[in-house]
Amino acid sequence: MKRIGVFTSGGDAPGMNSCVRAVVRNGIYNGCEIVGIQYGYQGMIEGKMVDLQARSVSNIIQRGGTILRTARSEHFKTQEGRAQAAKHLRDAGIEALVAIGGDGTFQGAVKLIEEHGLPVVGVPGTIDNDLFGTDYTIGYDTAVNTAMEAIDKIRDTAASHDRLFYVEVMGRDSGFIALDVGISSGSEYIAIPETQTDVQKLKEELGVFKKHKSSAIIIVAEGEEEGGAFSLAEKIKDAAGYDYRVCVLGHIQRGGSPTARDRLLASRLGVAAVDALLEGQTNVMVGEIHGRISFTPLRDTWFNRKTIDNDLWRLASILST
Ligand code: ADP
Ligand code: F6P
Repeated sequence: MKRIGVFTSGGDAPGMNSCVRAVVRNGIYNGCEIVGIQYGYQGMIEGKMVDLQARSVSNIIQRGGTILRTARSEHFKTQEGRAQAAKHLRDAGIEALVAIGGDGTFQGAVKLIEEHGLPVVGVPGTIDNDLFGTDYTIGYDTAVNTAMEAIDKIRDTAASHDRLFYVEVMGRDSGFIALDVGISSGSEYIAIPETQTDVQKLKEELGVFKKHKSSAIIIVAEGEEEGGAFSLAEKIKDAAGYDYRVCVLGHIQRGGSPTARDRLLASRLGVAAVDALLEGQTNVMVGEIHGRISFTPLRDTWFNRKTIDNDLWRLASILST
């Protein structure tokens, strides 16, 4: 194998650059040529590619976002779009791909493998941490730390005004960010899509908090079934007895310099992805489970739902009393 393509796709995540760097440097170390495909699948369809050398990835390990850019592509969801993408890859002499992204990216990759026979190894890059087959995804640790720091600041103003804050964190379908942030910021309640929020019970619990806590923080995952922080706040209204405010942290969680943990994970997985391709592997995601490199069939990464840690969930309610 001589020419390997690498691309980032879907939502960007801090650490994607560290991973691109690792793919490029390990590819070159092994005598391969590395081609960066810009704007994910959309760039593949449009033939946006650039040869990457070891120096092309200098000074990016610490940078958030993705130097390759990313995109969402409706066209790639069609057979015709994928055929166009495959043609551009063939024309550029690309023999295999490293796909850095989330479950949507991997669903696209499986179709590319099945329809065009191109080997693909996936690397989990999403702040949501919602992929089966890895303990953590690239970007998750940074996002949790960013949200935690923001909530520490919110707590200052909440405490000064004796207020209740509903803070919405990202997580379209999952509560991983919310759970870790909720515990690490000492929040009073965490609402996530994996568990049903009992609004009546929450009103009662807040009423009890009000008797001995002058302020409180509720973390709400964006995909929570009550419809997010504004909607939950509207349902509780003044029932809790607190003056309240809502804060949606939004896309600040996707940016910023990656933490050491994310840089290490990204470096390790980027190297492992190239090694896997050179060993003849395809249709798998490289991940890290209990500190060891693991390989999971791409389909399983979204088909098998990653579950939240029940011990952590239990801890959250004990610690908020
Ligand atoms: P993520 O990879 O972060 O989950 P998306 O869900 O937006 O992000 O997926 C990224 C891209 O992958 C989409 O814009 C689309 O081009 C492609 N994709 C997603 N799902 C499919 C699918 N079922 N078939 C083909 N391509 C898909
Ligand atoms: O990266 C994943 C994610 O952050 C989700 O939690 C969120 O719903 C989504 O991306 C929003 O992405 P965008 O604003 O780019 O559509």
